[in-house]
Amino acid sequence: MGHVIVGTGMFVPDNVVTNHDLARIMDTTDHWITTRTGVKERRFVDPGVGASDLAIEAARRAISDAGISADDVDILVTATMTPDHIAPGIAGLVQVGLDLGHVPAFDLRQQCSGFLYGLDLADAMISSGRGEVAVVVGAEVHAGFLPWSSESWDEVLGRGNGELSEADYARNTKYRAWSVLFGDGAGALVLRRGSDEGEGLLATSVHTDGESFELILVPGVGFKERPYVSRDQLDSDRHLPTMDGGGLYRKAVRLMPEAANALAARCGVAVEEIDIVVAHQANDRILEGVRRQFDMSPEKVPSNIGSYGNTTAATLPILYHELRHAGRVGPGTMVCFAAFGAGAHYGAALYREPADR
Ligand code: ACO
Repeated sequence: MGHVIVGTGMFVPDNVVTNHDLARIMDTTDHWITTRTGVKERRFVDPGVGASDLAIEAARRAISDAGISADDVDILVTATMTPDHIAPGIAGLVQVGLDLGHVPAFDLRQQCSGFLYGLDLADAMISSGRGEVAVVVGAEVHAGFLPWSSESWDEVLGRGNGELSEADYARNTKYRAWSVLFGDGAGALVLRRGSDEGEGLLATSVHTDGESFELILVPGVGFKERPYVSRDQLDSDRHLPTMDGGGLYRKAVRLMPEAANALAARCGVAVEEIDIVVAHQANDRILEGVRRQFDMSPEKVPSNIGSYGNTTAATLPILYHELRHAGRVGPGTMVCFAAFGAGAHYGAALYREPADR
């Protein structure tokens, strides 16, 4: 404990897709998406770009921001639910892309809480003497997840001819409840061993509510199936997520504040001492619920979901990076990270910005 975030970085692809763009390929409106989720636009990669590519760029920027070199990195943790390949995960690709040498490199599959679990793991490894410096990255490419035809993609990216088949429009509309939420991006930080117990990473707590496993999941394309992927599964859309939006909302609004409150109590920190809550950016209505639970203003529980949508494992490091560079967190600031997502994994971390940063 007491380890210090010495650098941050983020990377999002150039393709911006607005709600108005989505309304060209499905029955939706900017008004519906904005009022229900807060998302105004999101970014998507071009085909052939993977989560590892975004992770490498975000981590490279974090390493540079920290003023260190790749040789200084002892541990790499990558969190993604959208890896380049079903197996193995992206850690090896990111390790090579960053030229880290044969340092231990872990993939975490904790979805929206992946980054928080990564922070917890990096903290534990540094504390146990396995290294001095860890890079933790959250990266997602949701584009491949979306049930859109190449013609639909051309339309949303402004490269189409304005015509879409009725079948494509109907299919896109069928999956509109979750497809409008997500975007692509990556964020990273560098955690270095610290010695002052009163600052840096004070404590983390990660939890899993396995009974909520089915709130959001991809039912098919898994190794219970033989073969694990088949035409039959694809035809019945078992490779697409199913989501209980209301159930997720209720759990997220309750469990993120519960985890944060319990952690603060454990650390002897009053909730009033928390200056800013960097919460998972799933949607603005969840964030409003979190604000109500904490009785905090939007300034204290900020949102950037309007610009990026839900980038799953990348939302915490992207938001933290933006706040840091906007001067919203500085010496002495008490930051509370909070996450909730598929699994259902959730948790919190308390971080006091070092006085000399
Ligand atoms: N555009 C227009 N209409 C839509 C859209 C859309 N994109 N999506 C759904 N609708 C329609 C529905 O078909 C429904 O129509 P009907 O009344 O004719 O049947 C109507 O809007 C209301 O649908 P609901 O599902 O009841 O909408 P709700 O108000 O619950 O909002 C939402 C849905 C935004 C998904 C909400 O449940 C939510 O925010 N849940 C949290 C889920 C989440 O954040 N998931 C992210 C991944 S998990 C994580 O990161 C924690």
